[in-house]
Amino acid sequence: MAATDSDRDIRIFETAEEVARAAADYFAEIAEKCISAEGRFSVALAGGSTPRRTYQLLASDEYRNRLPWSQVHIFFGDERSVPATHADSNYRMAEEAMISLLPIPEPNVHRMVGEGDAVANASLYEGELQSFFDGDTWPRFNLVLLGIGDDGHTASLFPGTEALTEARAWVVANWVEKLKTYRITLTAPAINHAGNIIFLVAGAGKAERLREVLRGPRDPLRLPSQLIQPVAGSLVWLVDKAAAERL
Ligand code: 6PG
Repeated sequence: MAATDSDRDIRIFETAEEVARAAADYFAEIAEKCISAEGRFSVALAGGSTPRRTYQLLASDEYRNRLPWSQVHIFFGDERSVPATHADSNYRMAEEAMISLLPIPEPNVHRMVGEGDAVANASLYEGELQSFFDGDTWPRFNLVLLGIGDDGHTASLFPGTEALTEARAWVVANWVEKLKTYRITLTAPAINHAGNIIFLVAGAGKAERLREVLRGPRDPLRLPSQLIQPVAGSLVWLVDKAAAERL
């Protein structure tokens, strides 16, 4: 049973495995609701290592048989500047852990292209989102999954980078000087227009940063995770005990 936090929806679990399971349940519940209401479910996946277990669970018998996967549309919140076969590719991680194991039609998997020109790839992805969310001013993902990096970044919204002040674009190529690379990322307003947002945070290494993000003064240029504030949707924090240690 998760402990909750009164001012925000922060759910604290004993283990990272329980966090992964809670995220898979949340994913399945929202997907079921959206599919019965709208006939489709759109989700933007997170990269990094924390969500891998959630993706594996979703591909396990328990969840695989629960959802009509042909009505699920998979998008990505961010991507590294690497091809889909590269070990650092967020697409590759999701593909191996989940996508390849589920009956999701190929056109429903909307990969951010990581190889080649990042600026062109970002605009290509924005075009793909615009045709999916036809006529909307902002993308309206049913669910966006996010993590927090050690430096407070989320998606590929890194501290001090240009993407943090982007107010119009849905997707940008964001130069990350400390990594000397572009990342393609949804912008904060594009994320904030989602119906549901979940942060998955696990491990003692995240404890101090999570405290700063949630309890520290507002300083989103240094702590970009603080930019995530849904316009009308819900935001839930699924956190393990180790990461919640300093809250
Ligand atoms: C990425 C991300 C990123 C990630 C955090 C947490 O591509 O790296 O999408 O924002 O969610 O860095 O990553 P971990 O789960 O590996 O700690």
